[in-house]
Amino acid sequence: KPLVVAIDGPSGTGKSSVSRETALRLHAAYLDTGAMYRAVTWHCLDTGVDLADAAAIENACEEVDLAISTNPDDQKVSVGGRDVTEAIREPGISKAVSAVATTLGARAELIRRQKQTTADSGRRIVAEGRDITTVVAPGAEVRILLTASEEPRLRRRGLQLGGTQSAEALKEQVLARDAKDSAVVNFQEAADGVFTVDSSHLDFEETVDAVLAVIRR
Ligand code: CDP
Repeated sequence: KPLVVAIDGPSGTGKSSVSRETALRLHAAYLDTGAMYRAVTWHCLDTGVDLADAAAIENACEEVDLAISTNPDDQKVSVGGRDVTEAIREPGISKAVSAVATTLGARAELIRRQKQTTADSGRRIVAEGRDITTVVAPGAEVRILLTASEEPRLRRRGLQLGGTQSAEALKEQVLARDAKDSAVVNFQEAADGVFTVDSSHLDFEETVDAVLAVIRR
């Protein structure tokens, strides 16, 4: 029986890297749902969709030819056959992505695709995002909320961006985005039956071990 591991949390908790490493250790598939929101955002910007127009975003979301690899060893995202793996990590996408994530019709379409991928994988899968434990896979065998206090979250995201951002810019990018996203998903507190792993005082290896300990308990 395929085992689904659902991991949610805000940015800067190490969610993506920890989830990917967990999938590698379990020889499982890996689904980065944030990459799907980013890819749709890239597509909207690329085709000139007005990000203030909910119906246009929803429409773009329904028709987009989006492919995402579930191989944790080779994460590739493409839109209409174009490789956007790197492009979706650009600050311009991070800035615009909440417009897509807070459009309910767009969410419904991506959630539908994510449920399909999670159910169809036919093997163990680690799926991560903001609403996996609550909406995409509420029946997952293992559900984890990865949290961390503000200071380490900002520090980690700063390191990830190569130390090029000012403290102010980082706050704007991380905290403002979480605040916008929170309007439609609650990823700040654990739902019933969801284990919390606080990575504030853990390094990468320790966080992976803490997640594996929850899975093996
Ligand atoms: O950069 P970070 O790791 O924090 O974010 P991400 O996981 O790449 O997700 C990018 C954006 O996608 C988030 O800021 C949310 O707006 C949206 N998202 C969502 O709404 N629901 C999910 N399950 C995953 C991501």
